[in-house]
Amino acid sequence: MSKAHFGLIGLGVMGENLVLNAENNGFSSVVYNRTYAKTISFLEGRGRNKSISGAKNLKEFVEKLERPRRILVMVKAGKATDAVIDQISPYLEEGDLLIDGGNSEFRETERRVAQLEEKSFGYLGMGVSGGAKGALEGPSMMPGGTKSSYQAVEKLLCKMSAKVDDIPCVTYIGPGGSGHFVKTVHNGIEYGVEQILAESYDLMKRVAGMTSAQMADVMKTWNNSEELSSYLVEITELCLREIDEDGETPLVEKIMDKAGQKGTGLWTVMSALELGGPVPTIYASLNARVMSSIKERRVKTESLYAYSQVLSQNISSSFNDIPSITDAVVLSTISSYAQGMELLSIASKEYNYDLNMYEIAQIWKGGCIIRSTLLNRIQDAYKKNPLLENLLLDPWFSDQVKNRLPGLSKIVSIAAEQGIPTPCFTSSLDYINSYRTARLPQNLVQAMRDCFGSHTYERIDKPGSFHTEWQI
Ligand code: 6PG
Repeated sequence: MSKAHFGLIGLGVMGENLVLNAENNGFSSVVYNRTYAKTISFLEGRGRNKSISGAKNLKEFVEKLERPRRILVMVKAGKATDAVIDQISPYLEEGDLLIDGGNSEFRETERRVAQLEEKSFGYLGMGVSGGAKGALEGPSMMPGGTKSSYQAVEKLLCKMSAKVDDIPCVTYIGPGGSGHFVKTVHNGIEYGVEQILAESYDLMKRVAGMTSAQMADVMKTWNNSEELSSYLVEITELCLREIDEDGETPLVEKIMDKAGQKGTGLWTVMSALELGGPVPTIYASLNARVMSSIKERRVKTESLYAYSQVLSQNISSSFNDIPSITDAVVLSTISSYAQGMELLSIASKEYNYDLNMYEIAQIWKGGCIIRSTLLNRIQDAYKKNPLLENLLLDPWFSDQVKNRLPGLSKIVSIAAEQGIPTPCFTSSLDYINSYRTARLPQNLVQAMRDCFGSHTYERIDKPGSFHTEWQI
């Protein structure tokens, strides 16, 4: 029997769809899952009548693959990934290649790349974005590791990936854990945009008194605009249009307001803080999920503060300033991308990843969760200046800021008057205002630090490090 081209470990939702994708693209496959029953049910269900076979154990799995073996691991990030590596290693031979397609923490990937390459196996840490549908029809893929390992699977990945203008949404990202780092930051941006859209929904619902269908219509308009056309806006429209099984209530109104998270948003913020890259919009979206999770305490506190009494009477209930809400959504979305891209640039230098920002924008244009037309402008900006420090410095983006800042400011102030939390809008406004302020008040912070702790300060009129005996 001829050997299979491609192996897949882990028949979760993503694994199943990715192996079907590989097979659809002409790569005969073999699958392994920890519980064999799952393998059987896949082979008898979606895997039926396809060039896909199953293996009961990892020895059989490895034996069924042509050499050098190309194995995609799609298991829960963390211990399960290490367990698979340990269990399969004794059967692998020089030149074989493992690809971790889970949402692994990038430092763990750095460690695994180093460990496995010592044993002469190739190892790629690859971010995969697009959810179940993307995995099946073509995801965006962000592989990192040694370049030769990438080259060994380039053809396979290019075939499997989404295409935009015939360009595959996959490219070699860089060494070590860079692929997973880029995917992590992708998810940070994703958290930001999700929260931004949720804030616009809250304002349209609670201040403008709009129905779900009316809000869905706004999403539709946004999805037809250059600045906001995106997968996330598209699915927000769908979410708002879905009606509950009771036949009348919009389903979103029946969903518990507690958002989960699996770690990538937190890792983005942790990395940003470590690297000194400001990501306030992304942080605000992460914190908004944390706040949402303390539901019982929020319920208790709302009753204590008699909510309606803190609402300003200034805003009439007929408020429906959609243009200003649009400004807020556009600038906050730009902030989320700008922060993520700047963080990538900083990490690229710090970790010697040598990231190509233009190509990263390219492979995010299709297949992934943050695909959007805005990425065309982001690409243009990095094409003009590959070393661009921040998108806010690019002329197209700065025009957006100049034109839309009054709208964003207005929305943040209305939200504040109405007692409606808008963490991403507010943080984005602060971000833009801080970024465009040449002199911030941290001179006074420095003075305080020196006053109580002799921490010293720099001066603007002469170089050096100074300390003052402050007159206390
Ligand atoms: C993607 C997504 C995906 C992620 C989910 C859930 O790009 O396809 O980022 O990889 O796991 O969106 O993430 P949270 O549970 O942390 O929201």
